[in-house]
Amino acid sequence: MSLKDKIESVRTQFLADIDSFSDNSNDINAFRIKYMGRKGLVAELFQKMGDFPADDRPAIGQALNELKLEISTELDAIVQSLDPDQAGSSNYRIDTTLPEKEPPIGSIHILEQTLNEIKNIFISIGFHVAYGPEVDDDYHNFGALNFPEHHPARDMQDTFFVDNDTVLRTHTSNVQIHLMEKEDPPLRYIVPGRVYRNEAISFKSYCLFHQVEGLFVDKNVSFGQLKGCLEYFVKQMFGSDRKMRWRPSYFPFTEPSAEVDIWDEERQQWMEILGCGMVDPAVFDNVGYDPHVWHGYAFGMGVERITMLKYNINDIRLFYNGDVRFFDQFS
Ligand code: DAH
Repeated sequence: MSLKDKIESVRTQFLADIDSFSDNSNDINAFRIKYMGRKGLVAELFQKMGDFPADDRPAIGQALNELKLEISTELDAIVQSLDPDQAGSSNYRIDTTLPEKEPPIGSIHILEQTLNEIKNIFISIGFHVAYGPEVDDDYHNFGALNFPEHHPARDMQDTFFVDNDTVLRTHTSNVQIHLMEKEDPPLRYIVPGRVYRNEAISFKSYCLFHQVEGLFVDKNVSFGQLKGCLEYFVKQMFGSDRKMRWRPSYFPFTEPSAEVDIWDEERQQWMEILGCGMVDPAVFDNVGYDPHVWHGYAFGMGVERITMLKYNINDIRLFYNGDVRFFDQFS
């Protein structure tokens, strides 16, 4: 084969190589070494030049230089087209056939999930859902609920005051009053919402948390019905094997009053989840319901504590520090 034919065959080989090339800068480097390297195919041809008569060499040299330029121009162009930013970097590669990384997707906050569960349980037994104000006057948060002014019962709930007469509600019970002021009996509502307490923060108490209030007013409502309703709720929420207990208690707006505790598997102790009782006749007087005709029961439950008990979460503050590693466990 003449040198001219050899030059042509190297050119053909090169064109075939870049035809079969996969978008990959490692291949480009291999090509560069194969053709342009110190012991590459082009250098080999240059070496052969010495075998030819001096007269022929300029023409051969020109042909070889053209090939060399052609190959290096082509290789540079390919590197540029791969990624202009990375041209020149030897081990950069993009595999455009890889599937994209999945974007992170948020989840419904675990408290919202619990809230939805609680709502669905009560809706399924005939309760409606209502909402009320988080900033309220003293009367709706305390006075109308039979907390006399200056009475120590107000110390049960450390209060954030906005001004002398305005508070961040300490419980959702304020909405009991708003509902009864607006509507005539009978009524049957649950009221989910945020409440605020100026309390010492601990594993089970935070300055804000969520409650679901319940209020049922009708003729002939009994404590037995209240008990049946809340026991049904606990069974639905925690399963029928979960240990629960009733304790007598005191609230100004119910008489008699009780609290329900659930067994905390994590700490091996009882944890209170709700207060409840029969609506005090004084409250009915305040909203203009005749206590001789109407009876009612009410309850207020803590959503954070129910969630902690259900999922064995050992610190209420976890709900509020925004750590996605915690929330991802419940997505
Ligand atoms: N509001 C009370 C609290 O936050 C809980 C409560 C107790 C609500 C008895 C009620 C009830 O409706 O009847 O501690």
